[in-house]
Amino acid sequence: MQDRPTAERHTPVLRDRIVELLAPALHAEGAVFVDGTLGMGGHTEAVLTACPGAIAVGIDRDTEALTLAGERLAPFGDRFVPVHAVYDEIPEALAQRGIAEAQAILFDLGVSSLQLDEAERGFAYRMDAPLDMRMDQTTGLTAADVLNDYGVRELEVILRDFGEERFARKIARALVAERDKEPFANSARLVELLQRVVPAASQRSGGHPAKRTFQALRIEVNAELSVWSDALPAALSLLPVGGRIAVLSYHSLEDRITKRGLAVGATSSAPPDLPVELPEHKPWLKLLTRGAEIADEAERADNPRATSVRLRAAERTRAKPLSKAGHDVRNRYQNAGKPSETTTKMGETR
Ligand SMILES: C[S@@+](CC[C@H](N)C(=O)[O-])C[C@H]1O[C@@H](n2cnc3c(N)ncnc32)[C@H](O)[C@@H]1O
Repeated sequence: MQDRPTAERHTPVLRDRIVELLAPALHAEGAVFVDGTLGMGGHTEAVLTACPGAIAVGIDRDTEALTLAGERLAPFGDRFVPVHAVYDEIPEALAQRGIAEAQAILFDLGVSSLQLDEAERGFAYRMDAPLDMRMDQTTGLTAADVLNDYGVRELEVILRDFGEERFARKIARALVAERDKEPFANSARLVELLQRVVPAASQRSGGHPAKRTFQALRIEVNAELSVWSDALPAALSLLPVGGRIAVLSYHSLEDRITKRGLAVGATSSAPPDLPVELPEHKPWLKLLTRGAEIADEAERADNPRATSVRLRAAERTRAKPLSKAGHDVRNRYQNAGKPSETTTKMGETR
């Protein structure tokens, strides 16, 4: 753990734009802001400062993040409520606290700089550490479990789909051959294998040879895409009319789920042959961003994490669709970003 205060160690991506998008929904006294990915609390701090009547419920699956964000947000007293949960559990987490809706919701997806900075968490390929990569270290499979227990085909699919790794098959085969000699435990041995297996020409043009494999393992270990597919419709169902949601994605599959998820609400559901659009077919979301917004050059130069960000935001424009429609919405998410054969942890259908 480092000694510098949390706030100094971290700059939230697109902070001012997030405040600009969400603050109009948070002016009323007692308005609820849900930060579904609290991290080190940078966005929540900015929102609570800009919206003095609002309270914030900060969700994170990482207990260390909750502790650090709690220190940073202590000056806001009981306007900040920390919750240890996975973000697809937000409706239940709010209900337990007697909250039925949220006027604004933010998701800043992926790992935090805290998680990347701390060698022992195993997220960073530049530091030797146990192959853990769990955002919630209290539960679940580690990256070492995935590497040592998954079949060669499963590994290939994960590397290809979650890491967008061109050499997925070659790497998967090399991983299985290597673990047969001795199971994987630490990242240095994995990095050394990747340096050997990824062709030199690709290493020159495609960045660090371990980058894509580490990303793929992290997404698998934390079931990031399937959880996000469930979390987005659940979050949208919490928005009252006028409520707003903003999502920062860093991976094309994540952003695809976000784009399609918002499009479901922002598009008329009227059958094409119906001459008149009935009220129940009207869109119930208005997109607040044109396509996906990116960070400007200055922010990208200043914060490497901002280079791949895609921001999408929307506002609820009418009351909840019927539950049947809500059900349809969820089904349509389920297929939005899932790779062909596997998205979830070993043991589930692939
Ligand atoms: C990019 S960071 C958020 C940074 C934050 N916006 C800030 O300003 O400090 C993402 C955070 O989301 C958390 N997270 C990722 N997936 C999650 C999930 N499914 N449920 C709950 N928290 C999650 C991670 O543990 C991490 O702390």
